[in-house]
Amino acid sequence: MGKLEGKVALITGAARGIGRAIAEAFAREGADLFLVTRSTPLDEVKSVCEALGRRVVARQANVADHTGATVLVGDAVAQLGGLDILVNNAGITRDALLVRMKDADFDDVINTNLRGAFYLMREAAKVMMKKRWGRIINISSVVGEVGNAGQVNYAASKAGLIGMTKSAARELAPRQVTVNAIAPGFITTDMTEVLNDAAKAQLLQSIPLGRFGAPEVVAAGAVFLASGDAAYITGHTLAVNGGMAM
Ligand code: NAI
Repeated sequence: MGKLEGKVALITGAARGIGRAIAEAFAREGADLFLVTRSTPLDEVKSVCEALGRRVVARQANVADHTGATVLVGDAVAQLGGLDILVNNAGITRDALLVRMKDADFDDVINTNLRGAFYLMREAAKVMMKKRWGRIINISSVVGEVGNAGQVNYAASKAGLIGMTKSAARELAPRQVTVNAIAPGFITTDMTEVLNDAAKAQLLQSIPLGRFGAPEVVAAGAVFLASGDAAYITGHTLAVNGGMAM
């Protein structure tokens, strides 16, 4: 029996990269899925997860949009009969040095990475508190812990997620709803493919394990935090970074 058998999970940004790896790992562990993405088609990941025997609902929505995000939880409950696990994974970057950063670059990143997660956590918490069981997992970043030149917006959003995780964890603990974060280091996805070879070589030097991570290593952490094995862990930030920050 899978570790997530009989559970329903809502995963944002599930079309590719880390979100897709989490969706497929959850499907292998028995979860039914409500997958959300802004624009990238979800057909491929949906058919992979359905082939594993899961029920899958795919939705295009912008998590930064209040109305769009708020209805997602209700939709998941209506379509799949409940909501047990929320993974806030959707995220974007709009890099620029502080003195050159545009207001829109700051707002877009905060609205997607932080505000979107807030909208979904708020709705999911209502369902989970009633059920007296739930798992919320927020995908933060090592950048939220140690900062990064050119990413004040992104670092603020990812550090914000950690603070939000800890506060929600305290509020929801009495109802046995756990709230944790994962802070990945450098994971090879479309988001990081844009870096040039020199930047990648420099990054490699900062990783004690000497290699970049695959999306599946983050997915393994998410499966653990969503499973019964992590029932006594809340308010924690799991570093999946090859030792980049310790
Ligand atoms: P990616 O760019 O490959 O995928 C991001 C996904 O989020 C896409 O499916 C996209 O459609 C979705 N998305 C973006 N904005 C959205 C919105 N407004 N509404 C709904 N969906 C939206 O990114 P990747 O690399 O898979 O990253 C996933 C998460 O992990 C992000 O939150 C990112 O910040 C975080 N992360 C990634 C790291 C890496 O090295 N790749 C390192 C640390 C954290």
